[in-house]
Amino acid sequence: MPETSVAALLRQIETVGADSKRGGYSRHVFDPAELELRAWFADRATDLGLTLETDNNGNLWGWWGAPGPGAVVTGSHLDSVPGGGALDGPLGVATALAAIASLQAEGFAPARPVAIAVFAEEEGSRFGVACLGSRLLSGAITPERALGLTDAAGTTFAEAATAFGLDIAALGADHETLGRIGVFVELHVEQGRGLADLDAPVAVASSILAHGRWRLTVRGQGNHAGTTRMAERRDPMVVAARVILAARQVAGASESVRATVGRIEAVPGGTNVIASSVSAWLDVRATSDREARGAVADIAAAVRSAAAAEGCELELVEESWAGEVSFDPELRDRIRAALGGVPVLPTGAGHDAGVLAAVVPTAMLFVRNPSGISHAPEEGATDDDCEAGVAALVTVLKELL
Ligand code: HGY
Ligand code: MN
Ligand code: MN
Repeated sequence: MPETSVAALLRQIETVGADSKRGGYSRHVFDPAELELRAWFADRATDLGLTLETDNNGNLWGWWGAPGPGAVVTGSHLDSVPGGGALDGPLGVATALAAIASLQAEGFAPARPVAIAVFAEEEGSRFGVACLGSRLLSGAITPERALGLTDAAGTTFAEAATAFGLDIAALGADHETLGRIGVFVELHVEQGRGLADLDAPVAVASSILAHGRWRLTVRGQGNHAGTTRMAERRDPMVVAARVILAARQVAGASESVRATVGRIEAVPGGTNVIASSVSAWLDVRATSDREARGAVADIAAAVRSAAAAEGCELELVEESWAGEVSFDPELRDRIRAALGGVPVLPTGAGHDAGVLAAVVPTAMLFVRNPSGISHAPEEGATDDDCEAGVAALVTVLKELL
């Protein structure tokens, strides 16, 4: 297998950020693992003769031809969720590198600039806002809000970005860089079983669910687990349990809503201690903005009454929001035709393509994931399907160029 095959490229980073505690990978913006992945991308892009740039917002760009307007851009992200799979993000970057290698090998001379983009903090795993790099680039989040975001250790994005080498005074909407993008196509491992059930290797995306993240913090009275009578407690953990159950009840009663609590933090977190406060993070997705926000309101109402009954206070903070996305139907159908009529699938996963769809013509390609599992170590795709993804991306880039 040549060095530029997707399998070979992904093997080069298969140990980077491996998480022995959680399994899978933990690669978070500007942390050592993610910096190593940035260096890997820089090396591979340089091998292809691409011109490297890091934009004001920490996104990486590899340019084939002088950066200029009307560029055909592909790419994805390299950061992961905690304990994530090997492909969510990196497959889009590796297939972009392999596709350009293939075009160069056949002597294809693009009439327009081509670029690979690697967006920062797509998962929002460190600073809490999904697609932070593409939102800053496109102006979907203000620099002020981004700079004040903090990670679990209390480090601000301003501090982390400065340490990485960004000029935080230049953070924010970058019309020059954005103005160069004629069209953006992101290839991504499918996060679901659509293609597995259809027995097809590649699909084109139609839409992305509306999705948001809310932090619910419940405050009660910390106390001794052994000396505090049950009737005298104001235990925030009991109310946090209601968040988890209300999420399941509200979403379970609807065809189009998905609600999850995957992260919970108790303060102080002692086994023999009644917590003084507990934070639970709620992820809600739905086929419409209205349904997603409606579900959050229903969950919050249930939690508010549980908090009152337990003598606790509740704080609800929206940390991240992205409305539903319908990809450009003309571009979608043009790409689908160029690929010979592949399936068209919706997704419940957010992507930088979902953010950029608001400002430039954008499309997505999916590659079959036999288990459909993602955001977990079991996420995968066969080498053949990954190569089918490269072939599809080559076809699409040629069509667009
Ligand atoms: O959360 C998502 O849907 C994406 O993986 N960031
Ligand atoms: Mn993801
Ligand atoms: Mn992703």
